[in-house]
Amino acid sequence: MANFPSVLKTISLFSLCLLITLLFDPAYADPDPPYKLCSDVRGYVENSTFQKNLHSLLNSLPSNASVSKLYNTSTGNEPHRVYGLYMCLNYVTNEICHNCINTAHLDIVRICPSSTESVVWEETCQLRYSDVKFYGELNVADNIVSANKKNVSDPKKFENTVKEKLRELAKQAAYDASAKMYATGDVPFEDKVIYALVQCTRDLSGDDCGKCLQQAIEDVLRKYYFSIGARLMSRSCYLRYELYGFYKGATEASISSSPNNNKGDGEYF
Ligand SMILES: *[C@@H]1O[C@H](CO)[C@@H](O)[C@H](O)[C@H]1NC(C)=O
Ligand SMILES: *[C@@H]1O[C@H](CO)[C@@H](O)[C@H](O)[C@H]1NC(C)=O
Ligand SMILES: *[C@@H]1O[C@H](CO)[C@@H](O)[C@H](O)[C@H]1NC(C)=O
Ligand SMILES: *[C@@H]1O[C@H](CO)[C@@H](O)[C@H](O)[C@H]1NC(C)=O
Repeated sequence: MANFPSVLKTISLFSLCLLITLLFDPAYADPDPPYKLCSDVRGYVENSTFQKNLHSLLNSLPSNASVSKLYNTSTGNEPHRVYGLYMCLNYVTNEICHNCINTAHLDIVRICPSSTESVVWEETCQLRYSDVKFYGELNVADNIVSANKKNVSDPKKFENTVKEKLRELAKQAAYDASAKMYATGDVPFEDKVIYALVQCTRDLSGDDCGKCLQQAIEDVLRKYYFSIGARLMSRSCYLRYELYGFYKGATEASISSSPNNNKGDGEYF
């Protein structure tokens, strides 16, 4: 007959294995960045002035990213001028922002070779350049949607709950000046909690930020109303929701139940 403590040990070993299995459940795995939009309509020529301007622009941005979450600048003179803009999600530290833009810089030249307009999204940032000035212009063409493959059990109810929360956050980001075009929040759903985040590039007007997020909400829910989590990448805005607290500042309960415990360090603005 097995003695009592060893049975306990076996049980706790079993729960540990179960926990590890849950932590590595692929259903919780995030889709893999980078996501991209590359124009190849008028590819630039190798060693051209445009390429030199582009490389000089891209080389300068990671240093800005270590002091600022959002930045736009241009390099060179017309007609070879390059316009660039990056945005880090507001909850990350400057160090993470810097590393993210560094990765985006390497990825954008690798996955969008010779494109005159490109956008790349990494896990916590986006980087965009173009031969045409785009600051302050809303652009929701070709929005990219990515979602978790796991489904919720009650899609209709889930969709309504997500939609209502996202609309509230969109309004806050767009029209509350102190929000700086960024908002996060959570809402209970059955025995779980939905965590959501919205953010616009701050070159937009409040109205355009609202329009971008409205379109984003429609696009993501039209396609993936049944998924337990999703994100939408637009040139002008970003949104994401999950059944775990993926952003810094999510409540304590969410962080301890987060399957990949990706909480960042340091302060955020
Ligand atoms: C571009 O410049 C590099 C280095 O100067 C050179 O090796 C390469 O052949 C050039 N490519 C073209 C297409 O001129
Ligand atoms: C961005 O980087 C450039 C070049 O490194 C620098 O001249 C500029 O002051 C920086 N701007 C900000 C806002 O940090
Ligand atoms: C999730 O639901 C969608 C829509 O009903 C369906 O097309 C898809 O096959 C489902 N996926 C899984 C993994 O059940
Ligand atoms: C950044 O964009 C703003 C418009 O939102 C513009 O006024 C400003 O000149 C741009 N900065 C640079 C360095 O191009």
